[in-house]
Amino acid sequence: MDATIVPKVQKHYPVLLKEIISVISPQHGGTFIDCTLGQGGYAKKILSFENTNVIALDRDLESGKIANELKENFKDRFIFKNIKFSQLNNLKLKNENIKGVIFDLGYSYTQIKDPQKGLSFDAGGKLNMQLGLNSYSAEDAINKLDEKELEKIFKFFGGEKESKYIARNIVKERSKNNIDTKGLVEIIEKSKKRKNFKVHNATKVFQALRIFVNKEISELIFGLINAAKVLKKGGILCVVTFHSLEDKIVKYFFKSLSENKSISRYSPVIKQSDTLFNLIQKKPITPSDEEVSENPSSRSAKFRYAIKKTDFYNFDTDIEKQFRNYIEIENYGDKL
Ligand SMILES: C[S@@+](CC[C@H](N)C(=O)[O-])C[C@H]1O[C@@H](n2cnc3c(N)ncnc32)[C@H](O)[C@@H]1O
Repeated sequence: MDATIVPKVQKHYPVLLKEIISVISPQHGGTFIDCTLGQGGYAKKILSFENTNVIALDRDLESGKIANELKENFKDRFIFKNIKFSQLNNLKLKNENIKGVIFDLGYSYTQIKDPQKGLSFDAGGKLNMQLGLNSYSAEDAINKLDEKELEKIFKFFGGEKESKYIARNIVKERSKNNIDTKGLVEIIEKSKKRKNFKVHNATKVFQALRIFVNKEISELIFGLINAAKVLKKGGILCVVTFHSLEDKIVKYFFKSLSENKSISRYSPVIKQSDTLFNLIQKKPITPSDEEVSENPSSRSAKFRYAIKKTDFYNFDTDIEKQFRNYIEIENYGDKL
C-alpha cells in the first residue's frame, strides 16, 4: 500500500478476506485472536459463524467504537483490548485453545483520512503518525533526531535513495523553523534531484517515518514470537503484509521455524527433527485481479500462514538477531 496517499476508494475493504476465511475455516467454530481489529472486517466475518469467539486487539482506541458494536451484537463471544500486539503474551488466556492468530498489518482507510493522525501528506494534517499507544510523534523525530539517524530511518525503512540530502536539509531548516507536514514535503521536493513521476516524492520518507514512530518492525517481530507461543498444536498463524520489509520478516520467521532445530533445546522430550511450524505453502497468497480493481490499495498485500505442529511454548528463534539493525534504528526513539 502506498504509505501516505489518501486512497481513491471511499470505504474500508478487509483485504484478502475470502482467502483468510478459507485458511482458518471458522465454520468449524473455535477461538481466534484478531491482532489488528481496525474496522472489524475480519472479526465480524469470523463471528458470523456459529460457535466462534474473537479476542481482538488494536493500538488505536478509535477501534473501540467498532469493538462496542461487536460487543453489542455478539456479547461474550467478543473481547477487545486496546493494546499493542507485541504485548499479546500479557493477555490472560485461561488455557484457551486458540485456533488462529491473525495480523493484518498497517493502517485502515479511516486512519489515513484522519487529519489528526497525520499519516498522509495530502490530508492536510499535522506531522504526527502515531497510531496509538506511542511515546513520540513524527514531528518529534524530525525536529530532534541527529542528521545521521534521520538518514538511516529514510534509507532503511523507506528505501529512499536521497536520504542523505533530505536529512541534511531537514537539519539546516529546523535550526530556523520547527518543521511541520507542509514544511517537510517542501524540503523533500527541494532535496530530491531524481524526481519521481509515478508516486509523490515524499512517499518513501513518509512511509519510513510511520514505521519509525510506530516501531512497526519491533512490533512485528515480538508480535510473531508471542503469537507462536499462544498457539497450540494445529493453531494457524496468519499474516498479511503490505511492504517488502514486513514480508521479508514474516517469510524468514516461518521458514526458519519450519526447518529443523526450531524447538528449544531446553524443552523436555524433544526430537531434534521436530520443527515448530508446518509451512503448507511457501509462496504468499496475493489478491485476485477483481479485488485489486475494486480496492487498488490491496495490490501490495501478501498473505502468509503456517500451522503450529506442537504444543511447545518454548522455541529458539534468531529473528531478533537477524533483523537487529532495524530494531536498533527504531530504538533511536527511546531518547525522544
Ligand atoms: C489494516 S488495519 C486492519 C483492518 C482489519 N483487518 C479489518 O478488516 O477491518 C490495521 C489495524 O492494525 C492496527 N495496528 C497496527 N499496528 C498495531 C500494533 N502493533 N498493535 C495493535 N494494533 C496495531 C492499526 O491501528 C489498524 O487499526
